[in-house]
Amino acid sequence: METELISLCSTDADLETRLTPAAEVIKRGGLVVFPTETVYGLGADATNKEASIKIYEAKGRPSDNPLIIHIADPKEAERYAYTSEAYYRLAENFMPGPITVVMPVKDTIPRTTTGGLDTVAVRCPLSPIARALIRLSGVPIAAPSANRSGSPSATSLSHVVDDMYGRCDIIIDGGESEIGLESTIVKIDGNDSLTLLRPGEITPEQLREAGFRVSVSSAVLSALKEGEKPLSPGMMYKHYAPKSPLFLLDGDIEGQLKYVKNENNSSSLLITYSEYVREAREELVGVEVYDFGSIYDKKGQAKRLFALLREADKHSFLNIYAPLPDRCGIGLALYNRMIRAAAYKIIKV
Ligand code: TXA
Ligand code: MG
Repeated sequence: METELISLCSTDADLETRLTPAAEVIKRGGLVVFPTETVYGLGADATNKEASIKIYEAKGRPSDNPLIIHIADPKEAERYAYTSEAYYRLAENFMPGPITVVMPVKDTIPRTTTGGLDTVAVRCPLSPIARALIRLSGVPIAAPSANRSGSPSATSLSHVVDDMYGRCDIIIDGGESEIGLESTIVKIDGNDSLTLLRPGEITPEQLREAGFRVSVSSAVLSALKEGEKPLSPGMMYKHYAPKSPLFLLDGDIEGQLKYVKNENNSSSLLITYSEYVREAREELVGVEVYDFGSIYDKKGQAKRLFALLREADKHSFLNIYAPLPDRCGIGLALYNRMIRAAAYKIIKV
């Protein structure tokens, strides 16, 4: 398939005109990769059964793993889901923004889009490019992250090109993703209670401040037990795994450096906070060291994580070591992505 590339900036005066060809592709059932504030999405008309099947094929994704539908205005959810007071409270507090809400689905959305479930995940992104594209297309856009199944989500043009060039009609380049981790996903359980299915930039603390009781799905913090079915099908699949084995080190920097030094002296990679990069390079001869960002800047770490994992994949490191993040604030999202990338290998140092 031939892929066309369009580079855009959200402040472009002629944004709508330049997005028109992409909207036409969506209308006729094609595939468009587009930027959002979280990660890039691989989009198609969510109301078109054949179009959503194309997404699964292009991604290499199992067809029982449902897609998020993207809307341009929170009120549009009415057409596709049975909304509630809780939905509108979430919308008022967090939309447009990096949050996805799971609700009972209406029959305007085909079951291919929802992976056969009777619920649908709805998200109104903050990105002006994403919302303009949805508006111009006139339909909700179903979009998983624009990576091949099993790879880290794409947060820049080069990631998208590596994974999706030749597999979609158009790629819209909107620069580096602002947040770099996928949206927070919640399921509405009652008027004031939610289950957190996937942590993201919007934290449980913020959801509680908005008046919700929040329970955290067990799949967020640990591996599923044998035979256990997750509330979010995506949690079942191996995710974000780099090619070399990743180990998360639980302990202070001295312990981490000592551990890596004793374990091996070459061909491995240590991902560490900016504050420790110099010390790590001096201590660990032959070990590659990547800068994860300041220990105080979790947003910066979130933005870098997937790019670092993708960079690591270009080399054949014996092992990769990274610090185990704490679970406060956006740390919970980092923790969730990293324990899965590490296939739950945590070492106390
Ligand atoms: O930030 C994001 O959410 C990005 C951008 C493109 O919007 N999208 C994204 O989509 O991360 P995806 O498909 O890579 O991840 C969506 C997750 C999957 O794990 C899927 O299983 C879950 O959402 N999901 C979708 N519909 C669901 C539903 N009805 N019930 C429970 N989980 C659902
Ligand atoms: Mg994904």
